[in-house]
Amino acid sequence: MTKVAAIIGGGVIGGAWAARFLLNGWDVRVFDPDPEAERKIGEVLNNARRALPSLSDHTMPPEGAISFHDTIAEAVAGACYIQESVPERMDIKHQTFTAITAACDKEAVIGSSTSSFTPTELSGEQQDKSRIMVCHPFNPVYLLPLVEVVGGTTAAPEAVETCMEILTSIGMKPLKIEKEILGHIADRLLESVWREGLWLVNDGVCTTEVLDDAIRYGFGLRWAQMGLFETYRIAGGEAGMLHFISQFGPTMEWPLSHLMDVPDLDDALVKKIADQSDAQSGMYSIRELERIRDTNLVSMMRALKAQNWGAGAVLANYDAEKKAALGEPDLSGLVRTVSRTVPLDWLDYNGHMNEARYLQAFGDATDRMMEIVGCDAEYIASGGSYFTAETHIRHIDEVSAGAEITVDTQVVLGAGKKMHLFHFMRASDGRLLATGEHMLIHVSLETRKAAPPAPHIEEKLVAIAKAHEALPVPEGLGRFVGQGR
Ligand SMILES: NC(=O)c1ccc[n+]([C@@H]2O[C@H](COP(=O)([O-])OP(=O)(O)OC[C@H]3O[C@@H](n4cnc5c(N)ncnc54)[C@H](O)[C@@H]3O)[C@@H](O)[C@H]2O)c1
Repeated sequence: MTKVAAIIGGGVIGGAWAARFLLNGWDVRVFDPDPEAERKIGEVLNNARRALPSLSDHTMPPEGAISFHDTIAEAVAGACYIQESVPERMDIKHQTFTAITAACDKEAVIGSSTSSFTPTELSGEQQDKSRIMVCHPFNPVYLLPLVEVVGGTTAAPEAVETCMEILTSIGMKPLKIEKEILGHIADRLLESVWREGLWLVNDGVCTTEVLDDAIRYGFGLRWAQMGLFETYRIAGGEAGMLHFISQFGPTMEWPLSHLMDVPDLDDALVKKIADQSDAQSGMYSIRELERIRDTNLVSMMRALKAQNWGAGAVLANYDAEKKAALGEPDLSGLVRTVSRTVPLDWLDYNGHMNEARYLQAFGDATDRMMEIVGCDAEYIASGGSYFTAETHIRHIDEVSAGAEITVDTQVVLGAGKKMHLFHFMRASDGRLLATGEHMLIHVSLETRKAAPPAPHIEEKLVAIAKAHEALPVPEGLGRFVGQGR
């Protein structure tokens, strides 16, 4: 199969589809009557080039070629996959499909980004409806994996299968939806929440910000990793889904939502939901599911913390307060530079702390020492900093998630541009887990070259180094790889 995709309509969604295919090595042929389309898609592409490769631990394939065409017929020539993303108007969709089917390869898959229409509505009066299906993506299409694929009663099952294979090959998660319905699945769910949200703001119950906070600090994180039913299965505790869902029967009558047209939670529906939930998640005990959920939540919130955003910003503030409470360290002996728990997302396939995390902990220790000598965020913003020139880590003992670790730091040398540190990482029972030896050089961030630190930094560093001369020379100082084995 030659990897050629045609993108018909290159706005918000079409542009991002173009990026998804192109960055996965497909040639992309675009038709969009907007004279600005090339510029707009170019801008979306640049954002996609910045973000999409960050998702993978492997390099992306070489980018395909993108070309812009004056007619739909020209754009679809030679394409085995065609994605329609024109405005959500039935007349435009129909004209577009007529032009596509008249010119495209008879085997080509034709996906529509439509958020609402069904395949039956979309394929309308077309003679050959067998290749036309809904492929409804989520913005940004180049990052979010979900595509709702609806063949309805008109698309050929083998065309749907080919479509699913193609979408999977470009890193997406095509979700086959067996029955066509206006709005498919995800938008119907979003619509319900959106409509209720409009009511809550309209009725002065909350502001838009409070409403968003109610999502992103709580159930939004649960939904992001388990969805609705698996989350509620856990909420049912050891009794599981059957117990949980049975409780809801009477509450369906309560005015808990403006959406009062609800199904009767009779025994048949309760059983259907409980059986489906068993099939979905019954292979895990509730405790296992809780642990999976918790690891996911920890990983997600820590990722958000690095961005100081949403639930991650709460975590960042909490940590900043903990750090402020530490006060001034005693610099006369080894300096406590890290005191933390090994988090769940630091484990490797052997079940212990990944070797890269040893360096991260030592990096954090070095950052703390830099702060202590006055090389803090304000100083760095003024143009000076330390860069690490050399590192030697010895991995001495294992450590697992949940273990408390500390790093104590000795300044072996602090003079001129040089800061030579020796870190001791220990478990709470005193076991030495690792040592890290690092040589840092002070640099000017303007020239990116070695330069002397500000006098107040050098003064403090020299004073600590002098005090540390009284400490024993660290065992292993100056060791190189393999020495002594
Ligand atoms: N915006 C979203 O979040 C979103 C999400 C999922 C699906 N969708 C669906 O994607 C489709 C496109 O939505 P959008 O948000 O990208 O809209 P958009 O307005 O950003 O883009 C539509 C593009 O189609 C072009 N266009 C207009 N007439 C055309 C024609 N006859 N032939 C080819 N191109 C034409 C326009 O110039 C424009 O660039 C809709 O069906 C929409 O329901 C949108």
